[in-house]
Amino acid sequence: MTRHRIARLRKELTEKSLDAFVVSSLHNIRYLTGFSGSNALCIVRPREAIFLTDSRYNQQSRVEVKGFKRKTVASGLVEAAARNGNLRGCKKVGFESHYVSYTQYRTLRKTFPSVSFVPTLDIVETLSLVKDREEVRRITEAVSISDKVFDQIVKIIRPGVKELEIAAEISYLNKKFGGEEDAFGPVVASGTRGSWPHARPTSKRIKNGELVTLDFGCTLRGYNSDISRTVAVGRISRRSRDIYETVLDAQRMAIAAARGGMWAKDLDAVARKRIKAAGYGKYFIHSLGHGLGLHVHERPRVSALSKEQLKAGSVITIEPGIYMPRFGGVRIEDDILLTENGCQVLNSAPKELMIL
Ligand code: GLY
Ligand code: MN
Ligand code: MN
Repeated sequence: MTRHRIARLRKELTEKSLDAFVVSSLHNIRYLTGFSGSNALCIVRPREAIFLTDSRYNQQSRVEVKGFKRKTVASGLVEAAARNGNLRGCKKVGFESHYVSYTQYRTLRKTFPSVSFVPTLDIVETLSLVKDREEVRRITEAVSISDKVFDQIVKIIRPGVKELEIAAEISYLNKKFGGEEDAFGPVVASGTRGSWPHARPTSKRIKNGELVTLDFGCTLRGYNSDISRTVAVGRISRRSRDIYETVLDAQRMAIAAARGGMWAKDLDAVARKRIKAAGYGKYFIHSLGHGLGLHVHERPRVSALSKEQLKAGSVITIEPGIYMPRFGGVRIEDDILLTENGCQVLNSAPKELMIL
């Protein structure tokens, strides 16, 4: 499964004239090797791929790691790589500048004094911009777990229930339905707290007449889902309903427009224009969406500032929102797979205003 990924990585390294590439991001290590543990280092060279981990992961890595020469060591992975001669003969070696701390960089320099270390950005992330079949399968499965969680969670949302109780139930349901963990701490934002896009759940109790925004996801075999829905509890104001319908319309319009090959900023503009036309432009305070995969937030950015063209085969979120200070907010978020001619919406959770 990972062999073609390593081959594509090697092609990149040749193009960048790198003699080797040190992979330290655990997400990227998982993408390249299949390893799901918490401590590892990989070195990819034209004719060799080395995987190093510590002794806790000896058995696990034996089962999980494919396509790499595997070694379990007692202490420091970088020092072990030096003892093994894993960078012997290398002059220019790339490292992941986003993931290597200054201390780790100094260790690399000190341990391999004759190597010139070259900072790189998003090499593996770019390989995973277009998802392969297995990645799409995992994301789709994670998304369908989130749909099931939504279907169940609405049953416990009623006046008197605390935001934290709802968040705890989301985390429980994530695992119950097969997710390995929360993709991020669930957002449960009720009433005026809905105007904070990433409000942390609190002990506040749900009240009649409030909107409640839920944003959650799960991780399944390394891949994430990310869904938001806003529901109403009892009778809501006309303005709340108007905000809801505006966001829903903007979200549907963006989904209808999304396709591989279009500029990310043009897609953002579809939703932004609709929200602006309704008079809520200044309350749509974040970008329309983001890439989704091994990371909850990854390339491409789907924002007004993006200079990227979207690619068929990328999975992105479509999540417009309106956040009115001291009033409340609405966000509706789906995960979609871009295709040449449009997109496939991976979520199936209902989006019509739900009154609980
Ligand atoms: N849950 C974070 C986001 O929707 O981007
Ligand atoms: Mn989200
Ligand atoms: Mn999101």
